[in-house]
Amino acid sequence: MDTERTVRVFTDFYRERGHHLITGSTLLPPPGDPVLFTTSGMHPLTPYLEGRPHPRGRRLVNVQRCLRTTDLDEIGDSTHLTVFEMLGSWSLGDYGHSHSPRWGYELLRDGFGIPREQLHVTVFGGDEQVGPDLESLRTWEELEVPVELTRDDNWWSNGPVGPCGPDSEIFVWTGDTPPRGTPTTEPRWMEIWNHVVMRYRRLEDGSLQPLERPGIDTGMGLERLVTFLQGRDSVYDTDLFEPWTRRLPSLWELDEPSLRLVCDHLRSGVVMIGDGVRPSNTGRGYVLRRVVRRLLTTLRRDDPSRTLRDLPVGLLQ
Ligand code: SER
Repeated sequence: MDTERTVRVFTDFYRERGHHLITGSTLLPPPGDPVLFTTSGMHPLTPYLEGRPHPRGRRLVNVQRCLRTTDLDEIGDSTHLTVFEMLGSWSLGDYGHSHSPRWGYELLRDGFGIPREQLHVTVFGGDEQVGPDLESLRTWEELEVPVELTRDDNWWSNGPVGPCGPDSEIFVWTGDTPPRGTPTTEPRWMEIWNHVVMRYRRLEDGSLQPLERPGIDTGMGLERLVTFLQGRDSVYDTDLFEPWTRRLPSLWELDEPSLRLVCDHLRSGVVMIGDGVRPSNTGRGYVLRRVVRRLLTTLRRDDPSRTLRDLPVGLLQ
C-alpha cells in the first residue's frame, strides 16, 4: 500500500464516520504560542480541545506536518525524522471514550490488514493524581488485544500547562519471529498510534482541572505506518523517500547513516523554508540553520567540493 493510498484509507475511514476533513496547518504555530513548531496534529486544535466550538464541527480528521527538535539527535536511525506527518482524528466533546479504540482496531484490521496477533497496546495504569484508565483497559480487553499498564508513558500533555489526559498507545510487531514480550520490554514492538482521552487541563500550579467536555485526540505517524505496511526495515526504504534515495547516491557517495541524514535534512529544510522559516541565530531560524549546517558538514566531510547546487531542481520542489 503506497503512501497516498494509506492516507486515503485513513481519512475515508473517519469521513465515513462523520468526521470533517480539515486542512493541515503550517509548521508555524500562531503568534503567542510558546512552542517553536507544530509538534503534533492536536497542537493547532488546542483551543478547541479546551472547549471553543470548531467551525467544522465536533468530529475532525486531518494530516498534519510536524517537526520535533527533540528527535534531531536520533536522525540516521530507521524510524525518526525531523519533519513527519501525523494522521489525526478528533472528537471535540462528541463521542465517548470507548469509540476510539474500537474504531482504531477496526481500521488497523480491516483497512490496513494488520491482524490482532501483531498488535499490543499500553494503557495508563494510574499515578498519585489520577486513577487507572479502566474504560480503555476494558475496551481493549473486549477487543482481545493484549494490554500492558504503564504510568508516565501513557499520559499525554503538550507542555507543562494545557489539555492533557491518559492515552492508549498502539504497537505493531516488527520482528521476524512470532510476537513476544511487551512494548516496555521488547523493542521490536513499534509504536504507531496514540489515542488520548483529553479529560483535563493542567494549570500553572500543577493541579488538574476536569474539562467540561472531554475530547478524543488520536495521532499516527504516517511514515512509520507506511514503513510497516510496506514491510520495510527503515522509513528511508519506503516509496516516500524513493525520489531521494534513488537520485542522491549518483550525486554523492555516502555511507548509509549519512545518506539517511542528508535525505532527512534536505526534506526538513525544504518544508521549513516552504513554511516561511529563514536561517537565523535565534528561534525557528536557528533550528533551520542547524539542519542546513549539519547537512553541509555531512556532505563536505569526505569531499569539500560538494554543494547543494549539485541537486536537480526537481528534488527541491
Ligand atoms: N497528541 C498525541 C500525539 O501526538 C495524539 O495525537 O501522539
